[in-house]
Amino acid sequence: MTRSQEHNRVPGQQASQDDDPFPLDDLVLDEPYRFRVDGRVYTDAHLFALEMDRIWRRSWLYVGHESEIREPGDYRTAVLAREPIILSRGEDGGIHAVFNRCMHRGAALCRDDRGHANHFRCPYHNWVYRNDGTLVGMAQKSGYGSHFDTSELDLVPVPRLEAYRGLIFANLDPAAPALQERLGPSAWYIDQWADRSPTGQMSVAEGVHRYSYPGNWKFQLENGVDGYHGNYVHDSFVKILHRAGDRSRQDVVRARNRLGSNASAKGLPRGDGLLEREDGMLGTFDYASRDEYRRSLVEAHGSARLQDILTQRNLLIFPSVYLFESHIRVIRPISPTSTIVDTIPTRIEGIDDAINTERLREHERFFGPSSFGATDDIEIFVLNQTGVQAEVPRWLDFSRGLERERVADNGERIGHSTDEAPQRAIYREWRRMMLSGEGPS
Ligand code: FES
Ligand SMILES: [Fe+2]
Repeated sequence: MTRSQEHNRVPGQQASQDDDPFPLDDLVLDEPYRFRVDGRVYTDAHLFALEMDRIWRRSWLYVGHESEIREPGDYRTAVLAREPIILSRGEDGGIHAVFNRCMHRGAALCRDDRGHANHFRCPYHNWVYRNDGTLVGMAQKSGYGSHFDTSELDLVPVPRLEAYRGLIFANLDPAAPALQERLGPSAWYIDQWADRSPTGQMSVAEGVHRYSYPGNWKFQLENGVDGYHGNYVHDSFVKILHRAGDRSRQDVVRARNRLGSNASAKGLPRGDGLLEREDGMLGTFDYASRDEYRRSLVEAHGSARLQDILTQRNLLIFPSVYLFESHIRVIRPISPTSTIVDTIPTRIEGIDDAINTERLREHERFFGPSSFGATDDIEIFVLNQTGVQAEVPRWLDFSRGLERERVADNGERIGHSTDEAPQRAIYREWRRMMLSGEGPS
């Protein structure tokens, strides 16, 4: 084995004599007419540890929305890669992110998902910190003597914290490029998402639906931009709509047929991707066709932007977050075979409450805890993980649409809505980061 082969080998894996060194650059095969991914990317513990180091610890990861911490003292906790943090609004009005780890003996200070507090008091020995992280009190302080230095005992800030259109991202890599630079062309799609509000602001105020599944995090990534499975995995949903008299099956088929010509799946630079449909998905989220709502958007943003804003999209910002029409979806890897997902419904600011209520009901029906859509997808993730435990067929295939995709000037790869262009973007970036050990540059 050459030195470079040795460098790119998955740590902890035994290299066999010559034939199968399990090299990192051999896990994603990007060929002219075929794109394949090695099944071990979903099962191998060493690869997972490397993903945490080379992807999750070097990427801009979504940690919260500005509307969750509107007032000084508001806070929420989050997990960055696998590290617990507290995100808060300080008395100065600024946003702070510190590690949720007491400087005494490491206990997590804050146990709640969200709340309001000007101070955090450690439950173990009662050290007290201001919500910007400054240490302001130690129980029975005299026990430390007069020479004990407390100057380095403030909570440690997360290295990088930036926001775009209300979405707060953090990065564990101090050398990471600025968030907007990283977002590149994806920022335009985030703008369309935020401008569904005439005030340009979305908020999250309806709680969180959290689920976990016994499967790899990348299955959720692949699925959110997968336009290929809907007719099969979600057919039961269509039948239920039909039976409920809500929407006929023919309507849905018509909507799908209409989708054929003006829908696409796109792979963006940096592993981002999207599925977009100008006329919406399955004819749901019909509020978008209401005259008064459209008028308010035209007044705020101009008629030329209306179609772009109202195109329904599932937008992936690699590797941690999706913006869906109705919600933000946050992905948190726990182990190679375990993932937690937060589904956080959004409200559109500046519109009639009745429209937001209607959106929320539509959201619950397809994506909620007892819904007819998300639950079907989760079952598929379990089947995915079960299947890839069989290692003999080594590859998974992501070639769909490879020959017909179009490459735009800005690097977007545009395919039919059922194509695997976004999944290929995910694995190109996965491979790049895993091989280089560097974040987006
Ligand atoms: S661990 Fe926090 S005060 Fe002791
Ligand atoms: Fe689905």
